[in-house]
Amino acid sequence: MGDRLYIGIDLGTFQSTIATSKGDLHTIETVVGTPKDPVARNMLGRDTLFGEDALKNRLACDIYRPLAAGVAQDDSEHLNAAKDFVTHLIDSVGCDEYDEVYGVICSPSHISFTDKTNLVSILRGKLTAIMVVSEPFAVAFAIQELMGSIIVDSGAGTTDIARIVGRFPEDDDQITIAEAGDWVDLSLMSSIEKKYTGAQITKDMVRRWKEKSSYVGGDVKEVLVELSVEGKSQTVDVGDLIETACDGLAQHLGSAIKTIISGGDPEYQPLFRKNIYLAGGSSKIKGLAKKVTEYISDIGEVSVSAVKKPEHKVAEGALALAESMPDEEYTSIV
Ligand SMILES: Nc1ncnc2c1ncn2[C@@H]1O[C@H](COP(=O)(O)OP(=O)(O)OP(=O)(O)O)[C@@H](O)[C@H]1O
Ligand SMILES: [Mg+2]
Repeated sequence: MGDRLYIGIDLGTFQSTIATSKGDLHTIETVVGTPKDPVARNMLGRDTLFGEDALKNRLACDIYRPLAAGVAQDDSEHLNAAKDFVTHLIDSVGCDEYDEVYGVICSPSHISFTDKTNLVSILRGKLTAIMVVSEPFAVAFAIQELMGSIIVDSGAGTTDIARIVGRFPEDDDQITIAEAGDWVDLSLMSSIEKKYTGAQITKDMVRRWKEKSSYVGGDVKEVLVELSVEGKSQTVDVGDLIETACDGLAQHLGSAIKTIISGGDPEYQPLFRKNIYLAGGSSKIKGLAKKVTEYISDIGEVSVSAVKKPEHKVAEGALALAESMPDEEYTSIV
């Protein structure tokens, strides 16, 4: 086919998205499965499974979340899984038909420099040239809020909070906190276990309940879920516990936002206070922007809003950046 393809990739600890200049937009859970034994291999008919497909067959597979926080990045099994995953994501958009592929990549902030080297080795041969940017910067680009804003990207593994001042952010323009979606899940899980002694629950069950019914502020809602208590089925109300766990996240976001604003140029601070955007999957908690506003209202008049379609914003911004950056900004990896 010839020509050049631009791609934007959001590699997330929980899910990853790829967007291309020919219009693809795919999201897939960052999960890799490999059949446990020859029987499983025969039955499944493939050596590697990804995303939903891997999860559906999880009892027959070893399951890896290769980009999750806390995974040792030099562990060879995880590294191979990461490699397979990124290759699968890129192959899903048919890069091979193009002479050149220019990509902007956002990777989780806990992935350090050595792992960026790993990233380059994974992408070599697939992409012509790459640029690595932070998730909040990609979001700012997607929503065209580049001249004085605060972007909060609250995903699964971490929340990244950055000051955006019309140039690439530098290290001290951004802070990362450990409180994000996984943290909400764990805190909800432990409060359910405390309230319903003997409750048999997994983090994935709790995450699904949260995704369906998350909210913070206002009247307490009833959220009925079914769980086993010592093997016996029971329906219980977890509405108040969901609110408390989400409120915990709102408080952490509030203090981190205050820190990042107060560390910025004083002349920009009024602008920052008026342009605070919440993105990432955890920004879908109902009432979150309002609650965060309450927690930071002591610093003056503030405006906090949640972006629309937060799960796509990082990849969309990465693609928009890819299309508008001059070639000199890229690092060639051929
Ligand atoms: N409706 C919802 N309410 C609350 N949380 C939600 C909702 N939908 C998704 N989430 C949470 O959003 C998180 C995933 O968000 P996202 O896709 O931005 O993460 P990620 O990019 O994979 O992670 P990271 O940026 O930390 O690497 C998960 O913790 C998920 O449970
Ligand atoms: Mg993310």
